[in-house]
Amino acid sequence: MEVDRRAFLATLGSVAALESMDSEAKAEALEHYMMQQLDSTVPAAPTPAPDPWRRGTGGLFIPRRAEANAERRLPELAPMPEKPTLVDFYNLRFAPANHVLQSATRALKTGMSEEIILGCLLHDVVLNLIKVDHGWWGAQMVEPYVSEKVSWAIRYHQALRFYPDPAAGYEYPELYNRIFGKDYVPQPHIKQAYDYARNHKWYMEARLITVNDLYAFDPKAVVSLEPFIDIIGRNFKQPKEGLGFDGSPVAHMWRTMIYPNNPL
Ligand SMILES: [Fe+2]
Ligand SMILES: [Fe+2]
Repeated sequence: MEVDRRAFLATLGSVAALESMDSEAKAEALEHYMMQQLDSTVPAAPTPAPDPWRRGTGGLFIPRRAEANAERRLPELAPMPEKPTLVDFYNLRFAPANHVLQSATRALKTGMSEEIILGCLLHDVVLNLIKVDHGWWGAQMVEPYVSEKVSWAIRYHQALRFYPDPAAGYEYPELYNRIFGKDYVPQPHIKQAYDYARNHKWYMEARLITVNDLYAFDPKAVVSLEPFIDIIGRNFKQPKEGLGFDGSPVAHMWRTMIYPNNPL
């Protein structure tokens, strides 16, 4: 995907706004800008106004443009079934979910394990709920329903994307240099998480999520959830009461996405 530096900066308000952000926040802002561009059917307005909400806010709570120059509106949300499944969330809350579908499709095509494919499919869906620290939130949200390895990989993909591993096929994103300059240093807690993950037996699981992540911003790719239905069935422990209603420690996170309009 081509990223127009000026259009991206405009969403932040100013170059000064960018300079006041730490590296982690810059990378988050860029990734979310790209995901929004990918999911949007219309080209961005030439000079978008700075976003008036905090950048850590989840996508379900942010108004979007339905067409060029139209006013921003909150996305229409269909009610969810009484006992929602993960697939219901993809269809009714995460759609079009282009980025995660593209990354899982690449994992599938390159013959990766079902756990990696599921990790790719899930790695960023929490951005609908909250964006800040999305690796940690995203891992927590799925923890009761996936293998420990999958949630671990989702947690650490956030830190790993700042560190190259050419042997694994992950070069440092040139885009970060181009948009933010070369003097780009991740925050200490991110470095710490990286050091920990680098020496962990599951390092490669999280690394492969970042590898597929890099190639998942193609505006022309056509993707669907269909090839992943069986993989979800085999690897995601769907609670029989429905996500949000199983009394798990994370049920409230799923309920928040079912009812994002509830005031309390
Ligand atoms: Fe991510
Ligand atoms: Fe991603």
